[in-house]
Amino acid sequence: MLQRPRRNRKSAVIRDMIQENRLSTANLIFPLFIVEGQNQKTEISSMPGIFRYSIDNLLREIESCLKLGLNSFDLFPAVEESLKDKFATESYREGTLYLQAIEEVKKNFPEACVITDVAMDPYSSDGHDGIVENGEILNDETLVVLGKMALAHAQAGADIIAPSDMMDGRIGFIRNILDENGFTDVSLMSYTAKYASSFYGPFRDALGSAPKKGDKKSYQMSYANSREALIEAQLDLEEGADFLMVKPGLPYLDIIKSLHDNFDLPIAAYNVSGEYAMIKAAIGNGWLQESAILETLMSFRRAGATAILTYHAKEAIEKGWIK
Ligand code: PBG
Repeated sequence: MLQRPRRNRKSAVIRDMIQENRLSTANLIFPLFIVEGQNQKTEISSMPGIFRYSIDNLLREIESCLKLGLNSFDLFPAVEESLKDKFATESYREGTLYLQAIEEVKKNFPEACVITDVAMDPYSSDGHDGIVENGEILNDETLVVLGKMALAHAQAGADIIAPSDMMDGRIGFIRNILDENGFTDVSLMSYTAKYASSFYGPFRDALGSAPKKGDKKSYQMSYANSREALIEAQLDLEEGADFLMVKPGLPYLDIIKSLHDNFDLPIAAYNVSGEYAMIKAAIGNGWLQESAILETLMSFRRAGATAILTYHAKEAIEKGWIK
């Protein structure tokens, strides 16, 4: 035998030398849930270890993450049912919980990277990412709402805006509004290939944002399709996106790889709530070892993602798995 691949696995030093992919704190984005009130920190039952924070506690949480070298945060609001309406007007009203949170985080920690989520669903009385009329989602009318929301986030200090709604043309529409208002430096992380998935369940519990009627299949992609993701990516590139995101992550590693091989923009992977719940439940039951977490996160790097949105971020650093 001339080739003995095991020679390159014979010592820890050599294994380290030939390691193709690495993961550092710089790759991680930590999603955080916000609620109204003071001194609130309530655990989400389907996401052990993940909480909804009132702004005061959110600031404490972010401070402790920054100390660990975890610097990027994606914020999501839990909105009271009474504030929701058909047009998600609460999403851009001055002084909302969400806008206050962005402002407070940037004021206290200017070095932190704040990513904001643009979509109607947390504020929509229909629980959809667009305006609903006779059971249909209106695309172009929804863009107007998304534009107002994105502008409000930029004015509050967002570093990166992440539209997660899957309406056609939203990246170009939002880019235009931001540029016209002088926010040429605010980045867009597009949810490029967002699939109609069962893996968002715990997130929808956390925010009470599940659709009241119907499903999201007329805007989120079918999990049977991969080539369609290339069309979405091409459009996002042309419309001015700075990042392409794939969501969910683990069941869609092929999509991450395909976007990575076909496009030169940085790729983000969203390791979503259901993936987190699954792994946590198995570890909690003693069915999986905790090292499954790092193995999962590394799979995103192998597939070609540089940014990984994951609820495991803080824990993985605290436990010393990622430096
Ligand atoms: C909605 C949105 C969803 C997530 C992020 N933004 C859920 C959905 O489309 O219903 C899910 C994230 C997760 O499951 O962790 N705009």
